[in-house]
Amino acid sequence: MSVIGELHEVQRPGARIERVLRPASWLAALGALRDNPGARPVAGGTDLVLDLARTPGPAVTLVDLSAVAGAHEIAETDDAFVLGGGVTHNQIVGDPRFVRHALPLAQACLEIGSPQLRNRATLAGNLATASPANDSISALMALDASVVLSRLVGDTEVEREVAVADFFTGFRSTVCEPDELITAIGVPKLAADQDGIWVKLGLRKAQAISVVHAGLVITRDGGTVTDARLALGSVAATVVLSDAFREALVGTTLDAAAISTTAAAVAAEIEPIDDVRATADYRRAVTGTLIGRALAAVAGGDAAAHWPDDSPLLGTRLPGGSPLHREITDGTPIEVHVDGRLVVGAGAAGTTLLDWLRDELSPPVRGVKEGCAEGECGACTVRMDGAAVMSCLVPAAQADGSDVRTVEDLADGERLSALQSAFVDEFAVQCGFCIPGFLVAGSALLDDAASPTDQQIELGLAGNLCRCTGYYPIATAVRVAGRSS
Ligand SMILES: Cc1cc2nc3c(=O)[nH]c(=O)nc-3n(C[C@H](O)[C@H](O)[C@H](O)COP(=O)(O)OP(=O)(O)OC[C@H]3O[C@@H](n4cnc5c(N)ncnc54)[C@H](O)[C@@H]3O)c2cc1C
Ligand code: FES
Ligand code: FES
Repeated sequence: MSVIGELHEVQRPGARIERVLRPASWLAALGALRDNPGARPVAGGTDLVLDLARTPGPAVTLVDLSAVAGAHEIAETDDAFVLGGGVTHNQIVGDPRFVRHALPLAQACLEIGSPQLRNRATLAGNLATASPANDSISALMALDASVVLSRLVGDTEVEREVAVADFFTGFRSTVCEPDELITAIGVPKLAADQDGIWVKLGLRKAQAISVVHAGLVITRDGGTVTDARLALGSVAATVVLSDAFREALVGTTLDAAAISTTAAAVAAEIEPIDDVRATADYRRAVTGTLIGRALAAVAGGDAAAHWPDDSPLLGTRLPGGSPLHREITDGTPIEVHVDGRLVVGAGAAGTTLLDWLRDELSPPVRGVKEGCAEGECGACTVRMDGAAVMSCLVPAAQADGSDVRTVEDLADGERLSALQSAFVDEFAVQCGFCIPGFLVAGSALLDDAASPTDQQIELGLAGNLCRCTGYYPIATAVRVAGRSS
Protein backbone atom coordinates (compact mmCIF):
# COMPACT_ATOMS: atom_id res chain seq x y z
CA MET A 1 0.00 0.00 0.00
CA SER A 2 1.30 3.49 -0.83
CA VAL A 3 1.93 6.04 1.91
CA ILE A 4 -0.95 8.12 0.55
CA GLY A 5 -3.26 5.12 0.86
CA GLU A 6 -2.39 4.75 4.57
CA LEU A 7 -3.34 8.32 5.45
CA HIS A 8 -6.68 9.21 7.00
CA GLU A 9 -8.93 11.05 4.54
CA VAL A 10 -8.36 14.41 6.26
CA GLN A 11 -4.57 13.98 5.88
CA ARG A 12 -4.62 13.19 2.18
CA PRO A 13 -3.82 16.04 -0.21
CA GLY A 14 -6.98 17.04 -2.03
CA ALA A 15 -7.53 18.59 -5.43
CA ARG A 16 -5.45 21.75 -5.92
CA ILE A 17 -7.16 24.93 -7.08
CA GLU A 18 -4.98 26.25 -9.89
CA ARG A 19 -7.11 29.12 -11.16
CA VAL A 20 -10.02 31.22 -9.96
CA LEU A 21 -12.12 33.10 -12.51
CA ARG A 22 -14.08 36.03 -11.10
CA PRO A 23 -16.86 36.99 -13.54
CA ALA A 24 -18.87 40.12 -12.79
CA SER A 25 -22.15 39.01 -14.41
CA TRP A 26 -24.23 35.82 -14.76
CA LEU A 27 -23.59 35.90 -18.50
CA ALA A 28 -19.82 35.95 -17.96
CA ALA A 29 -20.10 33.23 -15.31
CA LEU A 30 -22.06 30.97 -17.68
CA GLY A 31 -19.49 31.66 -20.41
CA ALA A 32 -16.65 30.76 -18.05
CA LEU A 33 -18.36 27.47 -17.16
CA ARG A 34 -19.00 26.58 -20.78
CA ASP A 35 -15.48 27.49 -21.91
CA ASN A 36 -13.74 25.62 -19.08
CA PRO A 37 -15.13 22.08 -18.96
CA GLY A 38 -14.65 20.63 -15.49
CA ALA A 39 -14.59 24.06 -13.81
CA ARG A 40 -16.56 24.20 -10.54
CA PRO A 41 -18.76 27.11 -9.49
CA VAL A 42 -18.04 28.44 -6.02
CA ALA A 43 -20.26 30.77 -4.00
CA GLY A 44 -19.61 30.86 -0.23
CA GLY A 45 -17.16 27.96 -0.48
CA THR A 46 -18.40 26.42 2.78
CA ASP A 47 -19.06 23.05 1.15
CA LEU A 48 -16.79 23.16 -1.86
CA VAL A 49 -13.53 24.13 -0.11
CA LEU A 50 -13.81 21.09 2.16
CA ASP A 51 -14.95 18.79 -0.67
CA LEU A 52 -11.90 19.73 -2.72
CA ALA A 53 -9.55 19.48 0.25
CA ARG A 54 -10.79 15.95 1.02
CA THR A 55 -10.97 14.57 -2.51
CA PRO A 56 -7.74 13.84 -4.37
CA GLY A 57 -8.01 14.70 -8.05
CA PRO A 58 -6.63 16.82 -10.86
CA ALA A 59 -6.13 20.56 -10.37
CA VAL A 60 -9.37 22.51 -10.76
CA THR A 61 -10.52 25.88 -12.01
CA LEU A 62 -13.13 27.66 -9.93
CA VAL A 63 -15.74 30.04 -11.32
CA ASP A 64 -16.34 32.39 -8.42
CA LEU A 65 -19.91 33.67 -8.20
CA SER A 66 -19.32 35.98 -5.23
CA ALA A 67 -18.72 39.06 -7.37
CA VAL A 68 -21.58 38.53 -9.84
CA ALA A 69 -23.60 41.75 -9.98
CA GLY A 70 -27.13 41.35 -8.66
CA ALA A 71 -26.57 37.79 -7.42
CA HIS A 72 -27.46 38.76 -3.86
CA GLU A 73 -30.56 40.78 -4.73
CA ILE A 74 -33.99 39.92 -3.33
CA ALA A 75 -37.05 40.98 -5.34
CA GLU A 76 -40.60 40.87 -3.98
CA THR A 77 -43.99 40.63 -5.67
CA ASP A 78 -47.43 40.42 -4.05
CA ASP A 79 -47.20 36.65 -3.69
CA ALA A 80 -43.54 35.65 -3.95
CA PHE A 81 -39.89 36.48 -3.40
CA VAL A 82 -37.26 36.02 -6.07
CA LEU A 83 -33.83 35.44 -4.55
CA GLY A 84 -30.71 35.98 -6.62
CA GLY A 85 -28.50 32.89 -6.98
CA GLY A 86 -25.98 34.34 -4.50
CA VAL A 87 -28.33 35.18 -1.60
CA THR A 88 -26.83 34.06 1.71
CA HIS A 89 -28.60 32.49 4.69
CA ASN A 90 -27.90 35.55 6.82
CA GLN A 91 -29.57 37.81 4.27
CA ILE A 92 -32.77 35.81 4.88
CA VAL A 93 -32.28 35.78 8.67
CA GLY A 94 -31.77 39.54 8.75
CA ASP A 95 -34.75 40.43 6.57
CA PRO A 96 -38.02 40.60 8.59
CA ARG A 97 -40.12 40.08 5.45
CA PHE A 98 -39.23 36.37 5.54
CA VAL A 99 -40.45 35.88 9.10
CA ARG A 100 -43.74 37.50 8.08
CA HIS A 101 -44.26 35.79 4.72
CA ALA A 102 -42.04 32.68 4.55
CA LEU A 103 -41.44 31.69 8.17
CA PRO A 104 -40.18 28.13 7.45
CA LEU A 105 -37.36 29.51 5.28
CA ALA A 106 -36.29 32.08 7.88
CA GLN A 107 -36.29 29.39 10.57
CA ALA A 108 -34.22 27.00 8.44
CA CYS A 109 -31.65 29.65 7.50
CA LEU A 110 -31.16 30.60 11.15
CA GLU A 111 -30.30 26.99 12.02
CA ILE A 112 -27.58 26.61 9.43
CA GLY A 113 -24.09 26.33 10.94
CA SER A 114 -23.04 29.52 12.67
CA PRO A 115 -23.25 33.27 12.00
CA GLN A 116 -19.82 33.27 10.33
CA LEU A 117 -20.89 30.45 8.05
CA ARG A 118 -24.25 32.05 7.22
CA ASN A 119 -22.49 35.26 6.19
CA ARG A 120 -20.97 33.35 3.26
CA ALA A 121 -23.06 30.24 2.66
CA THR A 122 -25.76 30.59 0.01
CA LEU A 123 -29.14 28.96 -0.53
CA ALA A 124 -28.07 27.96 -4.04
CA GLY A 125 -25.00 26.19 -2.61
CA ASN A 126 -27.19 24.41 -0.06
CA LEU A 127 -29.48 23.17 -2.84
CA ALA A 128 -26.68 22.26 -5.26
CA THR A 129 -24.78 20.21 -2.68
CA ALA A 130 -28.00 18.18 -2.44
CA SER A 131 -27.36 16.47 0.86
CA PRO A 132 -30.64 15.24 2.41
CA ALA A 133 -29.39 16.88 5.62
CA ASN A 134 -29.29 20.35 4.06
CA ASP A 135 -31.70 22.38 6.08
CA SER A 136 -33.04 24.97 3.66
CA ILE A 137 -34.25 22.25 1.28
CA SER A 138 -37.16 21.08 3.44
CA ALA A 139 -38.26 24.69 3.96
CA LEU A 140 -38.09 25.50 0.25
CA MET A 141 -39.85 22.27 -0.72
CA ALA A 142 -42.65 22.83 1.81
CA LEU A 143 -43.15 26.34 0.42
CA ASP A 144 -43.25 24.88 -3.12
CA ALA A 145 -40.26 26.97 -4.21
CA SER A 146 -38.54 26.62 -7.58
CA VAL A 147 -35.07 27.24 -8.98
CA VAL A 148 -34.14 28.97 -12.20
CA LEU A 149 -31.35 27.10 -13.99
CA SER A 150 -29.49 29.05 -16.66
CA ARG A 151 -27.02 28.02 -19.36
CA LEU A 152 -25.53 29.57 -22.47
CA VAL A 153 -26.74 28.48 -25.88
CA GLY A 154 -24.58 30.34 -28.37
CA ASP A 155 -24.35 33.78 -26.83
CA THR A 156 -27.84 33.65 -25.37
CA GLU A 157 -28.73 32.86 -21.77
CA VAL A 158 -31.45 30.21 -21.70
CA GLU A 159 -33.42 29.54 -18.55
CA ARG A 160 -35.56 26.68 -17.27
CA GLU A 161 -37.56 26.63 -14.07
CA VAL A 162 -37.59 23.50 -11.93
CA ALA A 163 -39.65 22.94 -8.78
CA VAL A 164 -37.41 22.23 -5.77
CA ALA A 165 -39.45 19.04 -5.34
CA ASP A 166 -38.22 17.89 -8.79
CA PHE A 167 -34.63 19.15 -8.46
CA PHE A 168 -33.05 16.12 -6.77
CA THR A 169 -32.34 12.86 -8.57
CA GLY A 170 -30.70 10.98 -5.69
CA PHE A 171 -28.16 11.31 -2.90
CA ARG A 172 -26.10 14.43 -3.68
CA SER A 173 -27.30 14.53 -7.27
CA THR A 174 -29.59 16.98 -9.05
CA VAL A 175 -30.92 17.85 -12.49
CA CYS A 176 -28.46 20.78 -12.69
CA GLU A 177 -26.09 20.13 -15.62
CA PRO A 178 -22.36 20.99 -15.38
CA ASP A 179 -22.81 24.04 -17.63
CA GLU A 180 -25.86 25.30 -15.70
CA LEU A 181 -26.08 27.64 -12.73
CA ILE A 182 -28.84 28.35 -10.25
CA THR A 183 -29.35 32.02 -11.05
CA ALA A 184 -32.54 32.57 -9.02
CA ILE A 185 -34.82 30.89 -6.49
CA GLY A 186 -38.56 31.64 -6.47
CA VAL A 187 -40.18 31.41 -3.04
CA PRO A 188 -44.01 31.70 -2.84
CA LYS A 189 -45.25 33.66 0.16
CA LEU A 190 -47.58 31.96 2.62
CA ALA A 191 -51.14 32.95 1.66
CA ALA A 192 -53.58 34.41 4.19
CA ASP A 193 -55.15 30.97 4.73
CA GLN A 194 -51.78 29.24 5.21
CA ASP A 195 -49.44 28.67 8.14
CA GLY A 196 -45.98 27.19 8.07
CA ILE A 197 -43.16 26.16 10.36
CA TRP A 198 -39.72 24.54 10.09
CA VAL A 199 -38.17 22.35 12.78
CA LYS A 200 -34.88 20.50 13.27
CA LEU A 201 -33.33 18.03 15.64
CA GLY A 202 -29.53 18.16 15.80
CA LEU A 203 -27.10 16.79 18.36
CA ARG A 204 -26.29 20.30 19.59
CA LYS A 205 -27.72 23.78 19.22
CA ALA A 206 -25.39 25.13 16.51
CA GLN A 207 -23.05 23.71 13.87
CA ALA A 208 -25.14 20.53 13.88
CA ILE A 209 -25.98 18.38 10.90
CA SER A 210 -29.66 17.48 11.17
CA VAL A 211 -30.75 14.14 12.57
CA VAL A 212 -34.15 15.12 11.15
CA HIS A 213 -35.43 18.40 9.71
CA ALA A 214 -38.88 19.26 8.42
CA GLY A 215 -40.76 22.09 6.79
CA LEU A 216 -44.54 22.09 6.69
CA VAL A 217 -47.33 24.28 5.33
CA ILE A 218 -51.01 23.89 6.26
CA THR A 219 -53.90 25.49 4.35
CA ARG A 220 -57.17 25.94 6.24
CA ASP A 221 -60.66 27.06 5.29
CA GLY A 222 -62.26 28.25 8.51
CA GLY A 223 -60.86 25.68 10.91
CA THR A 224 -60.72 22.78 8.45
CA VAL A 225 -57.48 21.69 6.81
CA THR A 226 -57.86 21.76 3.02
CA ASP A 227 -54.25 21.08 2.07
CA ALA A 228 -51.09 20.01 3.89
CA ARG A 229 -47.51 19.72 2.67
CA LEU A 230 -44.60 18.27 4.63
CA ALA A 231 -41.00 17.98 3.43
CA LEU A 232 -38.72 15.77 5.55
CA GLY A 233 -34.92 15.77 5.51
CA SER A 234 -32.28 13.28 6.74
CA VAL A 235 -34.68 10.34 6.56
CA ALA A 236 -33.96 9.20 2.99
CA ALA A 237 -31.46 9.71 0.16
CA THR A 238 -33.10 13.03 -0.71
CA VAL A 239 -35.43 15.39 1.11
CA VAL A 240 -38.90 13.86 0.56
CA LEU A 241 -42.53 15.00 0.50
CA SER A 242 -44.83 13.02 2.76
CA ASP A 243 -48.06 11.53 1.39
CA ALA A 244 -49.15 10.27 4.82
CA PHE A 245 -49.09 13.79 6.23
CA ARG A 246 -51.55 15.11 3.68
CA GLU A 247 -53.80 12.06 3.87
CA ALA A 248 -54.01 12.17 7.66
CA LEU A 249 -54.59 15.91 8.01
CA VAL A 250 -56.90 17.04 5.21
CA GLY A 251 -60.48 17.32 6.44
CA THR A 252 -59.52 17.53 10.11
CA THR A 253 -59.64 20.60 12.32
CA LEU A 254 -56.05 20.16 13.50
CA ASP A 255 -57.21 19.07 16.93
CA ALA A 256 -55.13 17.00 19.34
CA ALA A 257 -56.38 13.68 17.96
CA ALA A 258 -55.59 14.66 14.36
CA ILE A 259 -52.11 15.85 15.37
CA SER A 260 -51.37 12.60 17.17
CA THR A 261 -52.68 10.44 14.27
CA THR A 262 -50.71 12.45 11.71
CA ALA A 263 -47.44 12.31 13.67
CA ALA A 264 -47.78 8.54 13.97
CA ALA A 265 -48.65 8.16 10.27
CA VAL A 266 -45.55 10.13 9.22
CA ALA A 267 -43.28 8.15 11.56
CA ALA A 268 -44.64 4.90 10.10
CA GLU A 269 -44.20 6.12 6.52
CA ILE A 270 -40.46 6.86 6.59
CA GLU A 271 -37.62 4.37 6.21
CA PRO A 272 -34.63 6.18 7.66
CA ILE A 273 -31.08 4.84 7.81
CA ASP A 274 -28.72 4.15 10.71
CA ASP A 275 -25.67 6.38 10.70
CA VAL A 276 -23.20 8.02 13.09
CA ARG A 277 -25.78 10.59 14.15
CA ALA A 278 -28.73 8.34 14.96
CA THR A 279 -30.20 4.89 14.54
CA ALA A 280 -33.15 4.37 12.22
CA ASP A 281 -35.40 3.61 15.21
CA TYR A 282 -34.41 6.81 16.95
CA ARG A 283 -34.98 8.82 13.77
CA ARG A 284 -38.44 7.34 13.35
CA ALA A 285 -39.38 8.05 16.96
CA VAL A 286 -38.13 11.65 16.99
CA THR A 287 -39.70 12.36 13.62
CA GLY A 288 -43.12 11.58 15.10
CA THR A 289 -42.39 13.74 18.13
CA LEU A 290 -41.03 16.61 16.02
CA ILE A 291 -44.02 16.63 13.67
CA GLY A 292 -46.48 16.41 16.57
CA ARG A 293 -44.86 19.43 18.26
CA ALA A 294 -44.67 21.40 15.01
CA LEU A 295 -48.38 20.82 14.34
CA ALA A 296 -49.27 21.77 17.91
CA ALA A 297 -47.34 25.03 17.48
CA VAL A 298 -49.25 25.80 14.27
CA ALA A 299 -52.59 24.89 15.88
CA GLY A 300 -51.80 27.15 18.83
CA GLY A 301 -50.71 30.07 16.64
CA ASP A 302 -47.18 29.75 18.08
CA ALA A 303 -45.22 28.88 14.94
CA ALA A 304 -42.92 31.91 15.34
CA ALA A 305 -42.75 31.70 19.15
CA HIS A 306 -39.05 30.82 19.22
CA TRP A 307 -37.92 33.35 16.65
CA PRO A 308 -35.29 35.43 18.45
CA ASP A 309 -35.47 39.20 18.67
CA ASP A 310 -32.66 40.73 16.65
CA SER A 311 -30.53 37.67 16.01
CA PRO A 312 -26.98 38.99 15.55
CA LEU A 313 -25.67 38.58 12.03
CA LEU A 314 -22.09 39.53 12.84
CA GLY A 315 -22.16 42.07 10.03
CA THR A 316 -23.82 40.58 6.96
CA ARG A 317 -21.63 40.98 3.94
CA LEU A 318 -23.28 41.53 0.61
CA PRO A 319 -21.00 40.07 -2.00
CA GLY A 320 -20.68 41.97 -5.24
CA GLY A 321 -18.85 44.88 -6.74
CA SER A 322 -16.23 44.67 -9.43
CA PRO A 323 -13.45 42.20 -8.77
CA LEU A 324 -9.96 43.63 -9.25
CA HIS A 325 -8.68 40.60 -11.14
CA ARG A 326 -10.86 38.53 -13.46
CA GLU A 327 -8.48 35.59 -13.40
CA ILE A 328 -6.28 34.64 -10.47
CA THR A 329 -3.55 32.03 -10.50
CA ASP A 330 -0.89 31.56 -7.83
CA GLY A 331 1.28 34.01 -9.79
CA THR A 332 -1.34 36.79 -9.65
CA PRO A 333 -0.72 39.18 -6.76
CA ILE A 334 -4.06 40.01 -5.16
CA GLU A 335 -4.71 43.28 -3.36
CA VAL A 336 -6.31 43.20 0.06
CA HIS A 337 -6.52 45.80 2.82
CA VAL A 338 -5.42 43.82 5.87
CA ASP A 339 -5.93 45.58 9.19
CA GLY A 340 -5.91 48.91 7.41
CA ARG A 341 -2.76 48.47 5.28
CA LEU A 342 -2.82 47.59 1.59
CA VAL A 343 -1.18 44.23 1.07
CA VAL A 344 -0.28 42.88 -2.34
CA GLY A 345 0.53 39.19 -2.29
CA ALA A 346 0.64 36.18 -4.61
CA GLY A 347 -0.13 32.53 -3.89
CA ALA A 348 -3.86 33.17 -3.53
CA ALA A 349 -5.36 30.74 -6.04
CA GLY A 350 -4.54 27.48 -4.32
CA THR A 351 -5.03 28.48 -0.71
CA THR A 352 -7.52 29.72 1.83
CA LEU A 353 -7.62 33.23 3.24
CA LEU A 354 -6.45 31.79 6.57
CA ASP A 355 -3.33 30.20 5.08
CA TRP A 356 -2.68 33.21 2.85
CA LEU A 357 -2.68 35.54 5.87
CA ARG A 358 -0.52 33.23 7.97
CA ASP A 359 1.87 31.81 5.36
CA GLU A 360 2.02 33.93 2.21
CA LEU A 361 2.24 37.44 3.65
CA SER A 362 5.38 39.15 4.79
CA PRO A 363 5.12 39.90 7.64
CA PRO A 364 2.59 37.14 8.29
CA VAL A 365 -0.60 37.72 10.27
CA ARG A 366 -0.20 35.00 12.88
CA GLY A 367 -2.84 36.34 15.25
CA VAL A 368 -5.38 34.45 13.14
CA LYS A 369 -5.43 30.86 14.37
CA GLU A 370 -6.20 27.55 12.74
CA GLY A 371 -8.15 25.20 15.00
CA CYS A 372 -10.03 22.73 12.83
CA ALA A 373 -9.65 24.06 9.26
CA GLU A 374 -13.24 22.83 8.70
CA GLY A 375 -15.40 25.78 9.68
CA GLU A 376 -16.31 24.18 13.01
CA CYS A 377 -14.35 26.03 15.71
CA GLY A 378 -14.28 29.75 14.85
CA ALA A 379 -10.60 30.24 15.79
CA CYS A 380 -9.89 31.59 12.30
CA THR A 381 -12.68 34.23 12.39
CA VAL A 382 -11.81 37.46 10.57
CA ARG A 383 -14.02 40.23 9.24
CA MET A 384 -14.22 40.49 5.50
CA ASP A 385 -15.83 43.73 4.31
CA GLY A 386 -17.33 44.02 7.79
CA ALA A 387 -18.81 40.54 8.12
CA ALA A 388 -17.37 37.87 10.38
CA VAL A 389 -16.36 34.81 8.34
CA MET A 390 -14.45 31.57 8.85
CA SER A 391 -11.23 32.37 6.96
CA CYS A 392 -10.36 28.66 6.67
CA LEU A 393 -13.30 28.27 4.25
CA VAL A 394 -12.69 31.37 2.12
CA PRO A 395 -10.69 30.77 -1.07
CA ALA A 396 -8.07 33.55 -0.76
CA ALA A 397 -8.76 34.69 -4.32
CA GLN A 398 -12.25 35.76 -3.23
CA ALA A 399 -10.67 38.33 -0.91
CA ASP A 400 -9.11 40.24 -3.81
CA GLY A 401 -10.20 43.87 -3.45
CA SER A 402 -11.71 43.44 0.00
CA ASP A 403 -11.08 44.81 3.47
CA VAL A 404 -9.98 42.18 5.98
CA ARG A 405 -9.75 42.87 9.71
CA THR A 406 -8.13 40.39 12.08
CA VAL A 407 -7.62 40.25 15.84
CA GLU A 408 -4.43 42.26 15.30
CA ASP A 409 -6.56 45.28 14.40
CA LEU A 410 -8.40 45.43 17.73
CA ALA A 411 -5.81 47.06 20.00
CA ASP A 412 -4.59 50.62 19.46
CA GLY A 413 -0.85 50.06 19.82
CA GLU A 414 -0.36 48.89 23.43
CA ARG A 415 -3.89 49.99 24.38
CA LEU A 416 -6.29 47.04 24.45
CA SER A 417 -9.83 47.44 23.15
CA ALA A 418 -12.66 47.41 25.72
CA LEU A 419 -13.46 43.83 24.68
CA GLN A 420 -9.86 42.65 25.07
CA SER A 421 -9.61 44.30 28.51
CA ALA A 422 -12.86 42.66 29.57
CA PHE A 423 -11.51 39.22 28.54
CA VAL A 424 -8.47 39.84 30.79
CA ASP A 425 -10.49 41.24 33.71
CA GLU A 426 -13.12 38.49 33.61
CA PHE A 427 -10.55 35.64 33.36
CA ALA A 428 -12.02 34.66 30.01
CA VAL A 429 -8.69 33.30 28.72
CA GLN A 430 -6.80 30.13 29.58
CA CYS A 431 -4.60 28.71 26.80
CA GLY A 432 -5.77 31.53 24.55
CA PHE A 433 -5.92 29.55 21.35
CA CYS A 434 -9.60 30.21 20.66
CA ILE A 435 -9.49 33.82 21.85
CA PRO A 436 -8.62 35.61 18.57
CA GLY A 437 -11.75 34.11 17.04
CA PHE A 438 -13.93 35.00 20.04
CA LEU A 439 -12.59 38.56 20.03
CA VAL A 440 -13.27 39.14 16.34
CA ALA A 441 -16.73 37.52 16.54
CA GLY A 442 -17.39 39.39 19.80
CA SER A 443 -16.43 42.75 18.31
CA ALA A 444 -18.75 42.10 15.33
CA LEU A 445 -21.50 41.17 17.81
CA LEU A 446 -20.99 44.42 19.73
CA ASP A 447 -21.23 46.35 16.46
CA ASP A 448 -24.59 44.63 15.83
CA ALA A 449 -25.88 45.06 19.38
CA ALA A 450 -24.02 47.54 21.60
CA SER A 451 -25.42 46.01 24.78
CA PRO A 452 -26.26 42.44 23.77
CA THR A 453 -28.79 40.27 25.62
CA ASP A 454 -27.78 36.82 26.86
CA GLN A 455 -29.64 35.32 23.91
CA GLN A 456 -27.78 37.53 21.44
CA ILE A 457 -24.44 36.53 23.00
CA GLU A 458 -25.38 32.86 22.79
CA LEU A 459 -26.47 33.16 19.15
CA GLY A 460 -23.63 35.48 18.13
CA LEU A 461 -20.85 33.30 19.56
CA ALA A 462 -22.40 29.97 18.57
CA GLY A 463 -19.71 29.44 15.94
CA ASN A 464 -16.79 29.68 18.38
CA LEU A 465 -15.57 26.76 20.48
CA CYS A 466 -13.37 26.95 23.58
CA ARG A 467 -12.00 23.76 25.06
CA CYS A 468 -10.65 25.15 28.33
CA THR A 469 -11.99 28.46 29.68
CA GLY A 470 -15.68 27.65 29.62
CA TYR A 471 -18.28 29.91 28.14
CA TYR A 472 -19.55 31.79 31.22
CA PRO A 473 -16.50 34.06 31.63
CA ILE A 474 -16.40 34.65 27.87
CA ALA A 475 -20.08 35.64 27.78
CA THR A 476 -19.55 37.83 30.84
CA ALA A 477 -16.61 39.59 29.18
CA VAL A 478 -18.72 40.40 26.12
CA ARG A 479 -21.56 41.66 28.35
CA VAL A 480 -19.17 43.81 30.40
CA ALA A 481 -17.50 45.24 27.28
CA GLY A 482 -20.94 46.11 25.92
CA ARG A 483 -21.87 47.99 29.09
CA SER A 484 -18.55 49.83 29.29
CA SER A 485 -18.45 51.20 25.74
C1 LIG B 1 -19.01 23.77 9.88
C2 LIG B 1 -20.15 23.64 8.91
C3 LIG B 1 -21.44 23.61 9.38
C4 LIG B 1 -22.51 23.49 8.48
N1 LIG B 1 -23.76 23.45 8.99
C5 LIG B 1 -24.80 23.29 8.15
C6 LIG B 1 -26.12 23.18 8.68
O1 LIG B 1 -26.36 23.28 9.89
N2 LIG B 1 -27.14 22.99 7.78
C7 LIG B 1 -26.92 22.90 6.44
O2 LIG B 1 -27.88 22.73 5.69
N3 LIG B 1 -25.68 23.01 5.91
C8 LIG B 1 -24.62 23.19 6.74
N4 LIG B 1 -23.36 23.26 6.22
C9 LIG B 1 -23.16 23.12 4.77
C10 LIG B 1 -22.98 24.43 3.96
O3 LIG B 1 -22.60 25.52 4.75
C11 LIG B 1 -24.24 24.79 3.18
O4 LIG B 1 -24.60 23.70 2.35
C12 LIG B 1 -24.10 26.05 2.34
O5 LIG B 1 -25.39 26.58 2.12
C13 LIG B 1 -23.39 25.88 1.01
O6 LIG B 1 -23.40 27.13 0.34
P1 LIG B 1 -22.07 27.78 -0.27
O7 LIG B 1 -22.47 29.06 -0.92
O8 LIG B 1 -21.01 27.87 0.75
O9 LIG B 1 -21.71 26.69 -1.37
P2 LIG B 1 -20.30 26.36 -2.05
O10 LIG B 1 -19.45 25.62 -1.09
O11 LIG B 1 -19.74 27.56 -2.70
O12 LIG B 1 -20.82 25.37 -3.18
C14 LIG B 1 -21.44 24.14 -2.83
C15 LIG B 1 -21.81 23.39 -4.13
O13 LIG B 1 -22.80 24.12 -4.83
C16 LIG B 1 -22.34 24.46 -6.14
N5 LIG B 1 -22.88 25.79 -6.39
C17 LIG B 1 -22.74 26.91 -5.62
N6 LIG B 1 -23.48 27.92 -6.13
C18 LIG B 1 -24.09 27.43 -7.25
C19 LIG B 1 -24.98 28.00 -8.20
N7 LIG B 1 -25.41 29.26 -8.11
N8 LIG B 1 -25.41 27.20 -9.20
C20 LIG B 1 -25.01 25.90 -9.30
N9 LIG B 1 -24.16 25.31 -8.42
C21 LIG B 1 -23.72 26.07 -7.40
C22 LIG B 1 -20.82 24.38 -6.07
O14 LIG B 1 -20.23 24.10 -7.30
C23 LIG B 1 -20.64 23.24 -5.09
O15 LIG B 1 -20.76 22.01 -5.74
C24 LIG B 1 -22.27 23.40 7.09
C25 LIG B 1 -20.96 23.45 6.60
C26 LIG B 1 -19.90 23.57 7.50
C27 LIG B 1 -18.51 23.63 6.98
S1 FES C 1 -13.36 27.32 11.88
FE1 FES C 1 -11.62 27.84 10.75
S2 FES C 1 -10.00 26.90 11.82
FE2 FES C 1 -11.78 26.18 12.84
S1 FES D 1 -8.90 29.47 26.13
FE1 FES D 1 -8.10 27.54 25.55
S2 FES D 1 -9.40 26.89 23.94
FE2 FES D 1 -10.33 28.66 24.71
